[in-house]
Amino acid sequence: MTSPETCPPLAGRHILLGITGSIAAYKAAMLCRLLKTAGAEVRVVMTPLAKQFITPLTMATLSKNPILVEFFDPENGAWNSHVSLGEWADCYLIAPATANTLAKMACGIADNLLLTTYLSARCPVAVAPAMDLDMYAHEATQQNLRTLARRGVRIVEPGEGELASGLQGKGRMAEPDAIVAFVSDLLCEKKKSLQGKRLIVTAGATIEAIDPVRFISNHSSGKMGYAIAGELAARGACVKLVTGRTSLPTPAGVERVDVLSAAEMYEAAVQAFDGADGAVMCAAVADYTPDRVSETKIKKCDGDMYIPLRRTRDIAAELGARKGSRLLVGFALETHDEQAHAEAKLEKKNFDFIVLNSLRDAGAGFRGDTNKVTLIDAAGREELPLLSKREVAGRIAERIAKFFAQ
Ligand code: C5P
Repeated sequence: MTSPETCPPLAGRHILLGITGSIAAYKAAMLCRLLKTAGAEVRVVMTPLAKQFITPLTMATLSKNPILVEFFDPENGAWNSHVSLGEWADCYLIAPATANTLAKMACGIADNLLLTTYLSARCPVAVAPAMDLDMYAHEATQQNLRTLARRGVRIVEPGEGELASGLQGKGRMAEPDAIVAFVSDLLCEKKKSLQGKRLIVTAGATIEAIDPVRFISNHSSGKMGYAIAGELAARGACVKLVTGRTSLPTPAGVERVDVLSAAEMYEAAVQAFDGADGAVMCAAVADYTPDRVSETKIKKCDGDMYIPLRRTRDIAAELGARKGSRLLVGFALETHDEQAHAEAKLEKKNFDFIVLNSLRDAGAGFRGDTNKVTLIDAAGREELPLLSKREVAGRIAERIAKFFAQ
């Protein structure tokens, strides 16, 4: 596992960078680069005027993501959802923030994508004001900043010096490295909660070969497990992700071990658990595997065919038997008698808590980006509303941090 010390400070964090129409927008290019170097994933939303100061091409190239300006793409009507942008972000950083945008934020005006995203963001919001000294000093601006600060918006104080107007004074946007340090500090509390913990996450579906061509598997996309691995890493944990085959990118700061079959996942997880502080068993592991794998493609014949299956080993139960005082979190995907089945697994596999999702709930389960789960431990159950998988992962990571804080 990578050591906690080598993880970049913003590893795995999602930073939404908002750029408004100020001459200081040229500094947003360096800011974006520094955020990326610090390990963050960056998406950029610009006001229409910001495009006059720095090109979307520059920002798209640096952030490695398309730039968002309009509510929808006029070419194809694709909708840029301010709600999902706000959900995606761990921090919404508006830098530079003009007097105009600050005023609109303070009043709740939502006449561009950057502003609607602010109104729907659930994450911490930081602004780096940039304007001429008289505009900055104006009572209207100062009052707007006070209003925003009272509502929890964090202000990255502008610096003093030569302004674009040629005047000397306060109003220069803070330097990009200072803004990155500010954002790191802002997310630090969360980040430190799992600092130094070594955790394993199993994710995705296993593949059990029948012959060189066919296999038995299931619908798991791995999204929930990958989101958990990302959230744990973002809170400072050293994460080893033991994963079945998926098309998902490896979350930042996470060490990935690819496996195919349940047997391979068993070996990798049991071995990794030796030096770990805990594990989250999110993988959809096959319970049965063909008794023997045909070396050649099985040819079809007229009659029916039967494949003898034998039980695979239960990885979670094995780790449960070895865990001692270490953490073990399990998942239960059920279609009926959900609660009773989950509680039975909690005990049988020696989980500290289990995450139950029911295929009967709309928005829960495979492939989608949302999930509806209930967290169950010996003390009781907490039913969460329908959330993005990332938010569910955040709630699970918070529980894990509490476990270690006890
Ligand atoms: O018994 P069931 O498969 O429903 O239990 C689900 C939980 O057990 C999940 O956390 C899953 O990752 C884990 N599991 C495992 N190895 C298996 C089967 C399930 O780790 N062979």
